[in-house]
Amino acid sequence: MELIVTKDYDELSKEAANILKRDIKKYKKINLGLATGSTPIGCYKELIRLHEEEGLDFSDVVTFNLDEYIGLDSNNKNSYSYFMKENLFNHINIDLENTHIPNGKAKNLKEYCKKYDQKIEDAGGIDIQILGIGTNGHIGFNEPGDRLNINTFIVDLSENTIKDNARFFENPEDVPKKAITMGIGSILKAKKILLLANGKNKYDVIKKLLETETLDSEFPASFLKLHHDVVVIVDKDAYEK
Ligand code: F6R
Repeated sequence: MELIVTKDYDELSKEAANILKRDIKKYKKINLGLATGSTPIGCYKELIRLHEEEGLDFSDVVTFNLDEYIGLDSNNKNSYSYFMKENLFNHINIDLENTHIPNGKAKNLKEYCKKYDQKIEDAGGIDIQILGIGTNGHIGFNEPGDRLNINTFIVDLSENTIKDNARFFENPEDVPKKAITMGIGSILKAKKILLLANGKNKYDVIKKLLETETLDSEFPASFLKLHHDVVVIVDKDAYEK
């Protein structure tokens, strides 16, 4: 794991966006794996700035999001589909046909999960996957437990995640209890992974991730240690007490 510690969230966001910019410019076609949540918002803002001010071109960029809540319409403002449009897609020259977010309202969800992984494979796999990390060590919505799923699947969100994400909802009871998420295997297939974390509330989980020497399904992020190209970008608050 390569570790980059930045002085603050702004520098972290720029660092991540610059890595993406370098590869978007270098490869004609690129498949990006995207995350939602608070952490990547600054990176997406910087990508928008790079598009507006430096003409960074997204016309050949294809995206696959990690996860989506089950049961929310894509126009529900808490859906990840809405989030991606608001925070990135509506502000860059990406073809919406090239963006993929799991459909939390698909009729046959099991079948849909299989197709999602297949779609990623058919596109040639993910070149760079952006990840945040939950305070409980989840990546995507792979929650701690006895077993981890390899492929995209339907997950029961943990109490911890429901509590953490309640801040986005008017009423904490409105947080969906289930989501579709890429599995640990789907994530590890990405050629490169950028894990971002900022703020004091991520200090404990980042310390645990950096120090862990065992694979532990109760700490899903530990499986990132199997990957040969993970860059962890953290700000000072998430790195030192
Ligand atoms: C979001 C996702 C989650 C978040 C994690 C951290 O698509 O897959 O794993 O990255 O819950 O969320 P924030 O960034 O809000 O702290």
